[in-house]
Amino acid sequence: MTTYTPEALDALWMPFTANKAFKADPRLLVSAKDMHYRSADGREILDGAAGLWCVNAGHCRAPIADAIAEAARTLDFAPGFQMGHPGSFALANALKGILPTGIDHVFFSNSGSEAVDSALKIALAYHQSNGQPQRTRFVGRLRGYHGVGFGGISVGGIELNRKTFAAQLLPLTDHLPHTHDPAHNAFSRGQPAHGASLADALEQIITERGGETIAAVIVEPVAGSTGVLVPPVGYLERLRAICSAHGILLIFDEVITGLGRLGAPFAAQSFGVTPDMITLAKGVTNGAVPLGATAVQGWIYDTVVNASAKGIEFFHGYTYSGHPLAAAAGLATLSLYQSEGLFARAKALAPYWENAVHSLRSAPGVIDVRNVGLVAGIELASRADAIGARAYEVFIDCFKVQNALIRVTSDTIALSPPLIISEAQVDELVAKVRRAIERVPA
Ligand SMILES: Cc1ncc(COP(=O)(O)O)c(C=O)c1O
Repeated sequence: MTTYTPEALDALWMPFTANKAFKADPRLLVSAKDMHYRSADGREILDGAAGLWCVNAGHCRAPIADAIAEAARTLDFAPGFQMGHPGSFALANALKGILPTGIDHVFFSNSGSEAVDSALKIALAYHQSNGQPQRTRFVGRLRGYHGVGFGGISVGGIELNRKTFAAQLLPLTDHLPHTHDPAHNAFSRGQPAHGASLADALEQIITERGGETIAAVIVEPVAGSTGVLVPPVGYLERLRAICSAHGILLIFDEVITGLGRLGAPFAAQSFGVTPDMITLAKGVTNGAVPLGATAVQGWIYDTVVNASAKGIEFFHGYTYSGHPLAAAAGLATLSLYQSEGLFARAKALAPYWENAVHSLRSAPGVIDVRNVGLVAGIELASRADAIGARAYEVFIDCFKVQNALIRVTSDTIALSPPLIISEAQVDELVAKVRRAIERVPA
């Protein structure tokens, strides 16, 4: 067992981490297999978070590892600008096969943040190409998370992610209200009944700004990072109708909800609402190689590409767009999802999951349980003077004492296990979370 001194950990500036606290008492993972991590001190840790909402097929799956190794030996890198390689075309085709009908062109990047920034740029390019260059405004939603690029934090609505950078956010951006309404919807199973009319706030923004000035609306179908907010019945349909009526593009950020998390390839299919663009990342390679993608309706691609008589049509791209290792990982991952029927498995397991997570209603301080697909949010009453402290301590207890990895945000515990989780492991995870909640002071 290796000991990690604070000095050995000092050089790394860790992302979204309390660096000082972590380095004083580190939590390191050294290997993983299927449903478990192994910690640096040799413990087996049940993964209740699919890493970070990524590892939908479980960890270190051989077909994916083999495909990556093979790609690294065969074609380590191929430039994606004015050049191509078969893997990225094959992955675009494979994604087209599982995306909602009509969303049939795919732009690759390396992360969810880049997928979102690409989507915002595509929206502007589309409207310019379509003879409506005045459509420059974006609409996001309070509590939305769209990554950490300047575009993503501008349309995003998580205050702590924005405030340091507030002076330089994209200026032409408005936000819809979030859909969290515990007074009416606490302990809803699946989609909450109340709140479809919250989408009508878009009409107010349209009245104020002029619908013809708005390029796109972007929302997560299920807001994940803010603590699992499931869309009220009818809400997404309403957003779709308003966007269509006003020529506004609707973007679903499916970085978390895509690739089976809700029991269908994408939340768009689970909820039966088709947007104009879908951003995805994470589960597309099972987390094994960074990859983001922005998938668009064919008419968006056609409009941008046909607007230009010759030369490069869209001045945007990344050195690693469609990287051979990412493409290989993506292809192997999609074929694993298919051969093991993992999306259908998630759907079949969802009712068991729902019952299991709702049993936490009786745990101390639980003020809401929310669920959809294989996702759950368990919200704890906050301490008066320290919002987030209670759930953070639950997270620490889970890792150190219960041997489980969970995710917390503010005082909500977010659970999103790999889709291969068994019923017995669902029970085990829920029991571990309950014990941790019971051990942490109110
Ligand atoms: C909905 C959504 N969009 C974008 C992102 C950003 O993805 P990345 O961290 O890969 O940049 C995330 C990450 O959790 C996300 O949940």
